[in-house]
Amino acid sequence: MTDWQKLEKKYFMPTFKRMPLTLVRGKGTHVWDDKGNRYLDFTAGWAVNSLGHCHPMVAKALAEQAKTLIQTSNQFYTVPQLELARILMENSCFDKVFFCNSGAEANEGAVKLARRYGKLYLNGAYKVITAFNSFHGRTLCMTAATGQKKFQEPYAPVPDGFINVEYNSVDAVKKATDSKVCAIMLEPIQGEGGVNIPDKNYLKAVRTWCDQKGILLILDEIQTGIGRIGTLFGYEQFGMEPDIITLAKGLGGGIPIGAFLAKEKASVFAQGEHGSTFGGNPLACAAGYATLKFIIENDIPSKVDEKGEYLLSRLLRLKKKHSFIVDVRGRGLLSAVQFNSDLTDGIVKSCLEQGLLLNPVKPNAIRFMPPLTVTRKEIDEAVAILDKVFSKI
Ligand SMILES: Cc1ncc(COP(=O)(O)O)c(C=O)c1O
Repeated sequence: MTDWQKLEKKYFMPTFKRMPLTLVRGKGTHVWDDKGNRYLDFTAGWAVNSLGHCHPMVAKALAEQAKTLIQTSNQFYTVPQLELARILMENSCFDKVFFCNSGAEANEGAVKLARRYGKLYLNGAYKVITAFNSFHGRTLCMTAATGQKKFQEPYAPVPDGFINVEYNSVDAVKKATDSKVCAIMLEPIQGEGGVNIPDKNYLKAVRTWCDQKGILLILDEIQTGIGRIGTLFGYEQFGMEPDIITLAKGLGGGIPIGAFLAKEKASVFAQGEHGSTFGGNPLACAAGYATLKFIIENDIPSKVDEKGEYLLSRLLRLKKKHSFIVDVRGRGLLSAVQFNSDLTDGIVKSCLEQGLLLNPVKPNAIRFMPPLTVTRKEIDEAVAILDKVFSKI
């Protein structure tokens, strides 16, 4: 039998810290390894498998589209991308969309759009303010946007034009805004940063500031969008509307797709000013359309809200019981448990041995981002495993 993990060591650049697990199959909230072991998956492909693994609607849409038309180019009109565009617009505050293939690419596009806006309307302003502890992707520009030294230092000097400031501080944003700033880009809740939830009025106040200065507000909803935090889009919970939003992860139900959406005012690209070979291809868009339609028609976001509250209440019970837990936080099905020391690696490993997959988001914190379709029974199962593992610490 092939030793796949040995093969990875031989052929792969060693960028990923992998769990010792070769996954071969998935269904709903479960995955199976090549030895036949079953695991409860609370990582969901890093918040990607919004409807669980291999959801029948997504699989059907993919199979049908694969037999019909997989790829053309954007030289032509194709139906799946227009259906996906329409459902996105009809269910958001935005007017125009551009499809791409990943989160980093969506953010790159959004920043280009903001720079174009700066060139046209703000005397060539080009800088974008982003937050410390944010995560916006791995392209060179997005490492500069991502306000974490560990992602920037190996590639320094990173591209010019990004100012990282304290998250959840309107003052920090105000202080950093000069005449060269064209936009502010923030996550409504920082995901990779450890599930950091800002004060209720933070985004609203930043919105007001952007309006005063005439600059754009971009929300990176690559992790918080498509139902993850209990509304179809995260911004709906903060009493404001951004000018531009970026999406990826959950949008394709497991298939790589990214998008940025803009209000009419911010939609300033002219013909030829941006492009993509694969962006908006029929296969990915068919998966995206099936996913989004299912999420909307079945009111998945409000179910996420309920199940998220349930998960949080169970995690809070664990906090009462285990004194090394110092914080439990979350919104919808994006939550984290923080410890008083760097316990994450040991806990994630023990949970894996007990059949539960978790994300080690920080050395002292684990993150929960199960499929949006996770059941209460599966939440109970996961919490029981956690309790067992925590009890041995
Ligand atoms: C908020 C946010 N933005 C951007 C990205 C980058 O997305 P991708 O890995 O698809 O490029 C991520 C990925 O984790 C993310 O969480």
